[in-house]
Amino acid sequence: MTVSEFASAKINLALHVTGQRDDGYHLLDSLVVFADAGDRLQFSPAADDGLTLSGRFGASLPVDAAPKGGNLVLRARDALRAVAIARGKAASAVHIHLEKNLPVASGIGGGSADAAAALRGLNRLWDLGLDAATLCAIGLPLGADLPMCVESRPLVARGIGEDLRLLSGFPPLHLLLVNPLVEVSTPVIFRNLSSKTNPPLVLPGEGAGLADWIASLVAARNDLQPPACSIEPKITDVLSRLAATEALLARMSGSGATCFGLYRTAAECLRAARKLEAEHPEWYIQPATTGSETDDGTN
Ligand code: C5P
Repeated sequence: MTVSEFASAKINLALHVTGQRDDGYHLLDSLVVFADAGDRLQFSPAADDGLTLSGRFGASLPVDAAPKGGNLVLRARDALRAVAIARGKAASAVHIHLEKNLPVASGIGGGSADAAAALRGLNRLWDLGLDAATLCAIGLPLGADLPMCVESRPLVARGIGEDLRLLSGFPPLHLLLVNPLVEVSTPVIFRNLSSKTNPPLVLPGEGAGLADWIASLVAARNDLQPPACSIEPKITDVLSRLAATEALLARMSGSGATCFGLYRTAAECLRAARKLEAEHPEWYIQPATTGSETDDGTN
């Protein structure tokens, strides 16, 4: 039996930094959606544990499980296996294949989405029956974005990313993801914030439609964008090129460098993609719809 999971790109439509904990981690208030662009993982029973990589960005990833800098998919496997064994369950050897389509260290969850997909997929392969809240708790020590990627649907994330409020009925969006293929360091961006106590998000209430969400998004911010732009000028370039298309909004996701344009229609989004591809064929340029690709089929 092979289990497949889709690891959706995570997009912070808005990200406000509202405080800082004593341990240095920052408190966030973020509206997050997940795209139909992402990585694909497969989990198959095997004689020995293993990991193979493919895809545009596969070659840039480590294949070991070192506590610092190791592959997050393998660290998630090991964390879940430890929980399984503690509960008296078998967690047999598994071969994992990761098709890495998302750029690495790019503000759209890449590693966290892959690790979250590993928790979901191995929970099924090993028939552990763990619920989403338990998978989120196992994932959090591996990264603050892990819990939201376990959920992989529209939500508001608070705390350092562990306090999640799921948004039912959030409208699907047409987004263009653009990354100039520069890696930025998340801790460095956080350290360069000019203020760590910014106002929280103001979101529309129950029953809000697309126009209400867009109005509140336009009024919101990504507080990590100004420090990221001053550290990496290519991000400013991406944002101004997106703003010169038909985008309703151009903004950076997470700590960058991936930015997104938000469009009224898929046709406008594709037109913008073609324009930017002509200007910068070397960039990562990916039209996407947010909503739900749930490729959780068991073959
Ligand atoms: O948790 P994750 O490994 O993604 O975080 C990487 C680094 O980003 C942390 O070590 C911390 O310096 C910074 N960070 C933060 N506040 C958050 C998330 C990350 O300061 N909420």
